[in-house]
Amino acid sequence: MTNFKDKVIYQIYTKSFRDSNGDGLGDIQGVIEKLDYLKELGVDYIWMTPFFQSPLNDNGYDISDYRTIDPVFGTMEDVEELIAQAERRGMSLMFDMVFNHTSTEHEWFQRALAGEKKYQDYYIFRDGTPDAPPTNWESKFGGNAWAYVPELGKWYLHLYDRTQADLNWDNPEVREELKDVLRFWKAKGVKGFRFDVINVISKPTIFQDDNQGDGRRFYTDGPRVHEYLKELVADAGIGGMVTVGEMSSTSLDNCIRYTNPAEKELSMTFSFHHLKVDYKNGNKWELQPPDLAKLKELLTLWQIEMQKANGWNAVFWCNHDQPRVVSRFGDDQRYWKESAKMLATCIHLLRGTPYIFQGEELGMTNAGYTSIDQYRDVESLNYYRIMLQSGKTETEALEILRQRSRDNGRTPMQWDSSVNAGFTKGIPWIMPPENFRHINIQAERSDPDSILHYYKKLIQLRKQEPVISEGQIAFLYQDVPGVFAYRRFHQGQDLFVVNNLTGYDIALNNMPWTGFQKILGNYTDDSTILRPYESAVYGPCK
Ligand code: NOJ
Repeated sequence: MTNFKDKVIYQIYTKSFRDSNGDGLGDIQGVIEKLDYLKELGVDYIWMTPFFQSPLNDNGYDISDYRTIDPVFGTMEDVEELIAQAERRGMSLMFDMVFNHTSTEHEWFQRALAGEKKYQDYYIFRDGTPDAPPTNWESKFGGNAWAYVPELGKWYLHLYDRTQADLNWDNPEVREELKDVLRFWKAKGVKGFRFDVINVISKPTIFQDDNQGDGRRFYTDGPRVHEYLKELVADAGIGGMVTVGEMSSTSLDNCIRYTNPAEKELSMTFSFHHLKVDYKNGNKWELQPPDLAKLKELLTLWQIEMQKANGWNAVFWCNHDQPRVVSRFGDDQRYWKESAKMLATCIHLLRGTPYIFQGEELGMTNAGYTSIDQYRDVESLNYYRIMLQSGKTETEALEILRQRSRDNGRTPMQWDSSVNAGFTKGIPWIMPPENFRHINIQAERSDPDSILHYYKKLIQLRKQEPVISEGQIAFLYQDVPGVFAYRRFHQGQDLFVVNNLTGYDIALNNMPWTGFQKILGNYTDDSTILRPYESAVYGPCK
């Protein structure tokens, strides 16, 4: 089994990373161009968001052929070159497997539409009349989760966009097809997989209305999900690889089962509870300031419980579905640098494998868009319409998107201060925020105090200190609001991490790290008061 505890994984949103051919969209050659940068940063695995053939309604999470590269991203030769060039630099590739659904343009779905029974069984079709969907479940992108096909007199289930039809995992042929896809990429030299929304693959045998919610309680961590994952991993021969499952609205108990090595399912899971602390009543489209007490409570709970039961967390703040963390839980104006570094420290020294989403290592901020024309994301555009229909004004709906849209994480990577942030020589498919003129790699490379250099230090520290990768964790100052502090310990070695999550000073008493050396921090002076967004790491190591 590959060790994944001392590794750092970097996520590339292919479409926004680097455009090598001037068409305005990021591509595989663009990633190859920038491999030296990733090596310099110190990452081990590169998770690439999907670049497979796709109509790109959901930016590649709607795959129409799992074995073909979409021409806008490049060719199979490019992908082979990427894998080889990364390996040459000591880095490995992790590919994104979207196995809950396919695009409705996938050949399987097209053959289903053409009336082939075999392929209708690949999806979840139900007979019905146009006025009555089989259940009242809601799609995660808004509206009912079923779409009607008049020619067939049937509905099909789509938990996401109507162009993303859910696969029928209860059909063994579907499971065989998906194992084959994994074997194909494994044979190409891919060393890890990220599984998109993998905990919603197992649907109930009886479909019924949900009178308490949107239907998710019937299919989240569904009845046969553990069985299907075990089978997939064993039969595809990927048990020794690094695997991460994206888990939608999951539970701790299930994540323990997904990741406890004895279960032989996955290396680690992404769970999102800590990223809902600014949702009002759990609703992403209603704003509230982040509940920092809740944030601390959730991070602590997942750390402690996963540790007790030998589970393993993927630790992260950002991805292509989330707003930028420095704008969300930090202060991207007055304490931009301090809060970005503090948030990085919080995550990187926890017990788990850290993920960096492209640009997070620069302190990239939210997009700051002011007009609906600037948005591209299918979910944002759907919800903008829904919000207006439900009575919100344009100004209110735009403010919600400004804070919540997935496009905040999808703006072009900020390479330098030249036009379009050095992302493309053409017209970018989505605009960078104005601040790329000072927030960019070129500027941060030459500033020893930059966020970029701080990330490098955090990554190196993980490589040097087994207490970070292997150590136990215990939490400190649990009753002091705004302070997120913990102790890591391993074979007689201690490491203390203290973070001020707030923008004001906090005084602490009886600090257990007294006498230890400060080995990292975002303030140079050694005050006994925690300054706004201060972060400090104390240990015996240099
Ligand atoms: C989760 C992915 O991260 C997201 O971008 C996508 O829209 C949904 N899964 C559906 O595939």
